[in-house]
Amino acid sequence: ESPQELKGLRVVISAGPTYEDLDPVRYVGNRSSGKMGYALAAAAVRQGAQVVLVSGPVHLATPAGVQRVDVRSAAQMRSAVLDALPADIYIGAAAVSDYTPRQVAPQKLKKTAGTQTLTLELVRTQDILAEVAQQTNALKLVVGFAAETHDVEKYARGKLVDKRLDLVIANQVGITNGGFESDENAATAYWQGGEQVFPGTTKALLAEQLLSLIAQRLHA
Ligand code: C5P
Repeated sequence: ESPQELKGLRVVISAGPTYEDLDPVRYVGNRSSGKMGYALAAAAVRQGAQVVLVSGPVHLATPAGVQRVDVRSAAQMRSAVLDALPADIYIGAAAVSDYTPRQVAPQKLKKTAGTQTLTLELVRTQDILAEVAQQTNALKLVVGFAAETHDVEKYARGKLVDKRLDLVIANQVGITNGGFESDENAATAYWQGGEQVFPGTTKALLAEQLLSLIAQRLHA
C-alpha cells in the first residue's frame, strides 16, 4: 500500500552506534539504538527500494527484505559502506564514533597501583558520509543526520555545505520523547534553499515521511 516512490533504486543505509575497542573487554561507544536507521530501511523496502543496511551493534531484528551487514567499529563500517556502493541513495543514520583509541591493547588494561587517573589517546576516524558524498561515481542523493544539543539549524546547515550533502535530517538530543533510545522522534530536514519540519511521531511514521521527502528531492 506504500507508494512505490523508490522502485528500482538501490539504497545504502548506515545505522546504530560503532564500538571502538580499547582492549579485549572494553570499548568506547555511544547511546544510538539504531531504531531510526532500521525504520528507514524498512520503509525504503516498502517503497520499492533494494536496501543494504550497514549496522553497528544493536538489539534489533532485521527488517523483512533488507540485506544487513553487521559491523563493529567505524573503520569496519567505512569498509562495508564503500563495498555496498555504487548506489542511488546513501543515508548516513549511524552514530559513527568521531574518535577511536590510537591502539587496541592486546591484553586487558590493569589498574596501576598508586595512580588515580588513566589517559586514553584517541585519534579521529574517517568521515564516512563526507567520503561517500565525494565519490565520483556519483550517487543521486546523499543524506546525513545531525544530532545536536543546541544551535541545531546552524550545525545542520554547516554539515550540508562542509560534507557536500543533498539533505541533512536534524534532531535535538536531550529532549524528552525523542532521540537515541526512544521509539519517537521529531526532526527538521534542511537542504540548499529549503527546510521541512517533521513534528514528533513514531520513528516508523517519520521514516515514511522522510523517504517521501527524499524521493521528492531526488526529482527536484
Ligand atoms: O559531523 P557529525 O558527526 O555531527 O555528522 C553526523 C553525520 O555524519 C551522520 O550522518 C553520521 O552518520 C555521519 N558520520 C560519518 N562518519 C563519521 C562521523 C559522522 O559518516 N566518522
